[in-house]
Amino acid sequence: MKALITAGGRATRLRPITWTVNKHLVPLANKPMISFAIEKIAEAGVKEVGVLINVGDTEIEKALGDGSAYGVSLTYIEQTGGPMGFAHGVNLAREFLGDEPFVLYLGDNIILGSISRFIEKFEREKLSCLLALSKVKDPQRFGVPEIKDGRILRVEEKPTNPKSDYAVTGIYVYDKNFFEAFANIKPSARGEYDISDIHTWLIEQGHPVGYEEITGWWKDTGTPYDLLEGNALLLNERSAWSVRVEGEVAAGAVIRGAVSIGKGSKIGPSTVIRGPVAIGSNVKIDNAYIGPYTSIGDDVTIEGADIEYSMIFGGATVRPGCRVIESLIGKNAVVERSESVLPKGHKLIVGDNARVEL
Ligand code: DAU
Repeated sequence: MKALITAGGRATRLRPITWTVNKHLVPLANKPMISFAIEKIAEAGVKEVGVLINVGDTEIEKALGDGSAYGVSLTYIEQTGGPMGFAHGVNLAREFLGDEPFVLYLGDNIILGSISRFIEKFEREKLSCLLALSKVKDPQRFGVPEIKDGRILRVEEKPTNPKSDYAVTGIYVYDKNFFEAFANIKPSARGEYDISDIHTWLIEQGHPVGYEEITGWWKDTGTPYDLLEGNALLLNERSAWSVRVEGEVAAGAVIRGAVSIGKGSKIGPSTVIRGPVAIGSNVKIDNAYIGPYTSIGDDVTIEGADIEYSMIFGGATVRPGCRVIESLIGKNAVVERSESVLPKGHKLIVGDNARVEL
């Protein structure tokens, strides 16, 4: 069995972060988001993995290489014709996928636990398609199945009046009927091929479409708040890897719980860090409080500030007197107080589509 991971699209809801970085490379717990998808696929024993990328994108390959670091072989497939929905991209990967069943994994989905049981159920029940479902509070944001007597009747994409409180998550297993279904569906009004139309077509044609519920944790990282939650849950899950201190911690600094500190980082004496927290390399922190569920990328400087439940990306600076909570601070951004410089007031250079809560 092969697998295909999506890493294309525009990720407009995550701007301004995604102006300068492909969404799938946004770090969660200080690792590119897409690496969690590769790890799950590798854990399930699938070795040949295609990665669907936008035309001309070189960033993803630069970050992931040939896949050997994950124990898999990666093949990059460009989505020629533009981002017309990832179902269109899967169809373009047909030559790579061949006629054998395959796993499709949306590279912006994060789950805890193994995906092996989805593959096992697909094989055991000789299905054409297996959907992994998860109960959600806001089904309008997702593909939503209508279920009766344990069977899916149809799937609607982002319906105004959802027929259940399940979301179809971004982990799927298909056989080659996927390609026949694709040939029979039309793009939506937005010009994108909807995956839900593939599912409804397969059901209407009598192909066996089954499902399995994800009872643990699943997240589609569509919005900045999803990113913060994803980061928090991954830090929690991975707290076993830590207390790993490769940098220097001055006497007097207090480090509690699961905290990892990368090479070359310096934690000054009047600092309190309460995990789970991930700190990258060459970070300087002094006279600061770093609270739970915070990831701090490489080359960040934090002085005299309080930070909690936040993601601070590489090269950013947070200066004295700032209290930062539930925030995403982009690469090389500077956050500082303006009270000591006249005229007083908030002085902002905020990118397009950014959100600021003062
Ligand atoms: O996360 C689960 C949901 O994913 C499902 O419930 C929906 O049925 C499904 O359509 C999808 O909805 P999204 O709105 O989240 O899809 P999105 O456009 O964000 O794209 C999902 C992944 O595919 C993401 O990794 C980006 C990638 N992509 C997207 C497009 C539009 C591509 O690789 N190429 C594309 O053309």
